[in-house]
Amino acid sequence: MLPIKIRENIYWIGVNDYKTDLFEGLWPISQEGVSYNSYLIDDQKKAIIDLANESSANTILDQISQIIEPSELDYIILNHIEPDHSGALRTLLLYAQKAEILATQRGQQMLEAFYGLGSRVRVVQDGEILSLGKTNLQFVSTPNVHWPETMMTYALEEKILFSCDAFGGYGALHGAIYDDDYEDLSFYKREALRYYVNIVATFSRPVLRAIEKLAGIPVELIAPSHGLVWKHPEEIISLYSQWARLAFEPAEKGITLLYGSMYGNTVRMMNAVAQGISREGVPLNLFNVTETHVSYILPSLWTQRGVVIGAPTYEGALFPPMAYTLEMAAVKHITGKPVARFGSYGWKSGGAEKHFEELIAPLNWELVDSFDFNGGPNHDDLLRGVEFGASFARRIKNR
Ligand SMILES: Cc1cc2nc3c(=O)[nH]c(=O)nc-3n(C[C@H](O)[C@H](O)[C@H](O)COP(=O)(O)O)c2cc1C
Ligand SMILES: [Fe+2]
Ligand SMILES: [Fe+2]
Repeated sequence: MLPIKIRENIYWIGVNDYKTDLFEGLWPISQEGVSYNSYLIDDQKKAIIDLANESSANTILDQISQIIEPSELDYIILNHIEPDHSGALRTLLLYAQKAEILATQRGQQMLEAFYGLGSRVRVVQDGEILSLGKTNLQFVSTPNVHWPETMMTYALEEKILFSCDAFGGYGALHGAIYDDDYEDLSFYKREALRYYVNIVATFSRPVLRAIEKLAGIPVELIAPSHGLVWKHPEEIISLYSQWARLAFEPAEKGITLLYGSMYGNTVRMMNAVAQGISREGVPLNLFNVTETHVSYILPSLWTQRGVVIGAPTYEGALFPPMAYTLEMAAVKHITGKPVARFGSYGWKSGGAEKHFEELIAPLNWELVDSFDFNGGPNHDDLLRGVEFGASFARRIKNR
């Protein structure tokens, strides 16, 4: 996309990345893409806020060149040192030779560790103001949103908050940068939630702290470094605080049903269990764990109250893709859920159950109900499955 003027002397100059298949080498974005938003301020002093990944360095240089010569840059402000925003730095410095890099103290240490550039960094303090001429920038330290060094940059006169990862989302920009350019925001909201749970959820307390800290600051525009620029900041702030509070407060009254199966026996039972849940009118999100990347499953686990797991016994243990899904839930601190489990076994019951209990121990999930059945489910087994689903659903409804 071409640069977009967002104020008299402030430009969005982001990069749409459709090349990366896995964000952080882990989270699928081939379909959705992601944007790295940078912002250029063309004032008496010239500054760029946040960059892009290493392979986008040429695009960043092109974007800058459409407004100023990269050699004119006085400041490169790095709110966050993760390489999705700093990877282009070394290439940019070949052109922006006089530019000073501004980052927090921790940011400086990281720039030394990742790029050997610690000595080019000027450390900025929380609350410090940098004057560019007409525009004054204030740095707001917001540690652990997402890494320990993170800060945000606030344009005082324009009331723009350059929030970096916070309030960001997956999803490349479809030709326009503002929330109100899009009639339907469902794609961006869904991708912001997936991004939140994949990337930020572990840091929900720091997110709430940052939101509290920002409460006194009038913000007209939220300009994150991924995804949409928000002309209605309250909308994305409220989504983020809702999602962050889910780390501490009860989730929605719905159920995530995860299943996996080798030969379909557990699937037959899963259909019966789902029937019981639906009978009680409880919203249900179904995922086949072997066919769905965990990135798409975690948002449901995060936002819904109950979990049902259906997976067979595999070599004396729980079906491996299910075990992986639960391990990832633990990595993302999706704790304190009521859970029910079922699964088919061939020759000896108990291995899946024991393994499952080990997996949910760090999650602090409460095992409400559990059963194994031998081989294919018969009619009585299926009736039991329906009742098992219904009774778990009632428990979720009445919590
Ligand atoms: C690779 C493999 C390992 C298995 N390991 C066990 C096991 O340790 N204990 C057991 O009781 N059954 C075991 N089974 C049998 C399955 O649990 C049984 O076939 C079950 O019905 C599969 O459920 P599904 O049709 O939902 O995949 C194993 C089957 C396979 C293919
Ligand atoms: Fe990050
Ligand atoms: Fe990022």
